[in-house]
Amino acid sequence: MRYSYECNDCKRVFETDEVIYQCPHCSKEQEANTFPKGNLIVKLNKDDLAKLKEKEHVNMYDFFPFEVPDKDVYPVGGTPLAKPKRLAKELGLNNLTCKLDSALPSGSFKDRASQLIAAQAIHYNMDKIALASTGNAGAAMSCAGAAYGLEIVLFVPETAPVNKLMQSVLYGATVVPVKGTYDDAFALSIAYTNEFGGINRNTAYNPMTIEGKKSVSIELFEQMGRKVPEVVYVPVGDGCIFAGVYKGFYDLYEAGLIEKIPHLVCSQSTKSNAISQAFKNNNYNAIEKASTRADSISVSSPANGRMAVNYIKASKGWCVEVEDEAIIDAQLELTSKAGIFVEPAAACAWAALKQDSEHLKKEFGSDVDVCVLLTGTGFKDMAVFENRVSIPQAIENSKEAVIKRFSK
Ligand SMILES: Cc1ncc(COP(=O)(O)O)c(C=O)c1O
Repeated sequence: MRYSYECNDCKRVFETDEVIYQCPHCSKEQEANTFPKGNLIVKLNKDDLAKLKEKEHVNMYDFFPFEVPDKDVYPVGGTPLAKPKRLAKELGLNNLTCKLDSALPSGSFKDRASQLIAAQAIHYNMDKIALASTGNAGAAMSCAGAAYGLEIVLFVPETAPVNKLMQSVLYGATVVPVKGTYDDAFALSIAYTNEFGGINRNTAYNPMTIEGKKSVSIELFEQMGRKVPEVVYVPVGDGCIFAGVYKGFYDLYEAGLIEKIPHLVCSQSTKSNAISQAFKNNNYNAIEKASTRADSISVSSPANGRMAVNYIKASKGWCVEVEDEAIIDAQLELTSKAGIFVEPAAACAWAALKQDSEHLKKEFGSDVDVCVLLTGTGFKDMAVFENRVSIPQAIENSKEAVIKRFSK
């Protein structure tokens, strides 16, 4: 598929076969404490896109700028759609679907971006990928590196949570703790690729991260019988997943395969609500300090905030902010009443749907076709349940103890 790049801010178009990351003009205009500028959008060639309308079935690879080699090596995609029957009944919503991206190889949605970045590296004959991440992106890229035999160099602030880093260490990445913040690690990973070559996979900085994430929407289109939901709830931190979801629907629309892009709902914690506030207040100011327990979506100055706000508007979407308490309640509820075990960041989308359900029914009726994107597995962060649930005490090894335990 032929493609070019367009700057999200100044709309300049860049026709190039080189690896490029940001708009050289807008990325220099950064103002203190505001969302970064100059992120690029991958624009697919319109004629190539139009040809896809003739196909009986499409898949995500039809819409990618690069060939993904040996797809089964790192099998990204095909995640299940769950119908949480008990919870749907409680909410009075008749067409509710959860997309379980927690089932991807490294346990999170981030595999979708890492698949295309691995393909990008292989396309350009590079065998090294560097990035900064404190969690799922690092684990996903390291997983892809292990599968394809690529070297992954992962810069992390030295204070990053150990449990999330362990996965990357196990996959065999070179993990480089930095005496500094995530922003420092981000800058050092760029310095690394400038000096030693390879691809940089920093989220939003490399436009192919968003392009890879769009696969979810194309997959959903085929899974739902060549149609898309009316409303999709997406958990949001940096706004890259949100942009990827929009981009997938946009490409389907441009290809003439759908008539309307779904309403996308930006779901955030009240303790990490930079994008929601930017949308409501019409500014791009960073928030003072993001502090949600849902660590994967705890972001003060979202790396892709400007594009995400544009896409909330373009999809005629809206924002829902939920309390942290509601996020953990949502996580427990999904587990115990639907058998769906996700990490807090993912549960934020469910909490948002719950909080929004009356508005949704009023606006669209109870038959509205809704999808909730569940982006990461619950095994990523078991510590969150401390003080909420406990393992029962052991009983004596005797029949009497069983009788005592179960007698009223
Ligand atoms: C599980 C999970 N859900 C949601 C998000 C939010 O994605 P984004 O930061 O692109 O908004 C992340 C990001 O790390 C994540 O790991």
